[in-house]
Amino acid sequence: MSESNLKSMADLVSLSKRRGFIFQSSEIYGGLQSCWDYGPLGVELKNNIKERWWKSMTYRDDVVGIDASIFMHPTVWKASGHVDGFNDPMIDCKQCKERYREDKIDATKPCQKCGAKDSFTEARDFNLMFNTQMGPVEDESAKVYLRPETAQGIFVNFLNVQTTMRKKLPFGIAQIGKAFRNEISPGNFIFRTREFEQMEMQYFLKPGTQQDAMEAWKETRLQWHIDNGIRPEKLRWHPHVGSELAHYADAASDIEYEFPHGFDEMEGIHSRTDFDLRQHQEFSGKKLEYLDAADNNKKYLPFVVETSVGCDRCLLAVMADAYRLENEGDKEKERTVMKFDPKLAPIKVAVLPLMKKLEEPARKLYSEVQKHYRSEYDLAGSIGKRYRRQDEIGTPFCITVDFDTLEDNAVTIRDRDSMEQERIPLDNVINYLNDKLKF
Ligand code: GAP
Repeated sequence: MSESNLKSMADLVSLSKRRGFIFQSSEIYGGLQSCWDYGPLGVELKNNIKERWWKSMTYRDDVVGIDASIFMHPTVWKASGHVDGFNDPMIDCKQCKERYREDKIDATKPCQKCGAKDSFTEARDFNLMFNTQMGPVEDESAKVYLRPETAQGIFVNFLNVQTTMRKKLPFGIAQIGKAFRNEISPGNFIFRTREFEQMEMQYFLKPGTQQDAMEAWKETRLQWHIDNGIRPEKLRWHPHVGSELAHYADAASDIEYEFPHGFDEMEGIHSRTDFDLRQHQEFSGKKLEYLDAADNNKKYLPFVVETSVGCDRCLLAVMADAYRLENEGDKEKERTVMKFDPKLAPIKVAVLPLMKKLEEPARKLYSEVQKHYRSEYDLAGSIGKRYRRQDEIGTPFCITVDFDTLEDNAVTIRDRDSMEQERIPLDNVINYLNDKLKF
């Protein structure tokens, strides 16, 4: 199969809007910077990614899921270190007031926005957490934060989950949910936004076993991305060394994908020691130790290996890797096609009657196919245009109902990638699709 030939993010932004994957938030009001809305196809794609992640992470003996609330007791963020330490260094241009992350630009060069020279302020820390008030009283005591990571919802529930689910170490807790960061320099479409979704798992284990667990999870997680259809050569490891290592980690490595703007982080695997549980134990005054019946009833705080992937970044990588512009410049043959792995494709099958007169058998077939696969029915426009649309949204199979169908009770099934067409008896369509869409 050919390879993605995506040249710029702009092509993906344009296709996403044109075909209903992703729209700018509040577009009719001029948009809201770095906020995006998933359209009907985007949400299908995102749900497929989330479902794959959920199944691969929790349909196993040693991991269970939770869904914690976004608002948490404010002391959680004191204990986790976010109130005091979740900062980025920020500088402003004195001329145009544009704000930059100091570590992302060369401050000896002119301002990228207004071109002013030597116009930057000194760097100062900027806390990335959004906060708001809970309840009717607007004072410091009512201050709550929008969680900047889902992980803390897992740490504070460690004992609840361990005792109610009678889990023995090692075991993990997984969660998918929104996170919020007041990023200084959001951008690159949905790569860095202020509201995003994380898919995180904390694996609790006996201290001393973290290295083996980390290696095992690294392998599992890399393979998961490859199984999403991402080319292995577009993925690489970025191990954290020296000052890159977070204060809570004794080892960390990111999975990077080569986005149109270059290799950048998609998922982080961290060995977080017992930092978080220890902090929460201290700040809450509640013992969070594990009683190890397999080791002389010793009590200790488990260590944690964390896997944390941004759902939106993952979706961006899936889209970037699926993109093909074929036969560019050839009026007849040019087409854009999203070669999604079929298990992630938002729509699996399109049913296309050639003419309005064929609606009855086509509708009948569609209602049958829809029972098995997320499908679309499309009668509008020439068959060529309808194929092009399905190619652009990445539908693996198009079924055309034509006049011969009335005679031979068969339909034509077109393969998205090869564009080859096969004549299949109507009563064999579901078997044919089941055979092709095995996942
Ligand atoms: N609990 C660990 C944690 O949150 P992180 O490296 O800050 O670690 C994990 O974030 C993942 O969340 C990243 O690898 C990325 O995929 C995603 N992510 C982080 N900030 C993001 C942002 N502003 N926009 C979109 N995704 C983001």
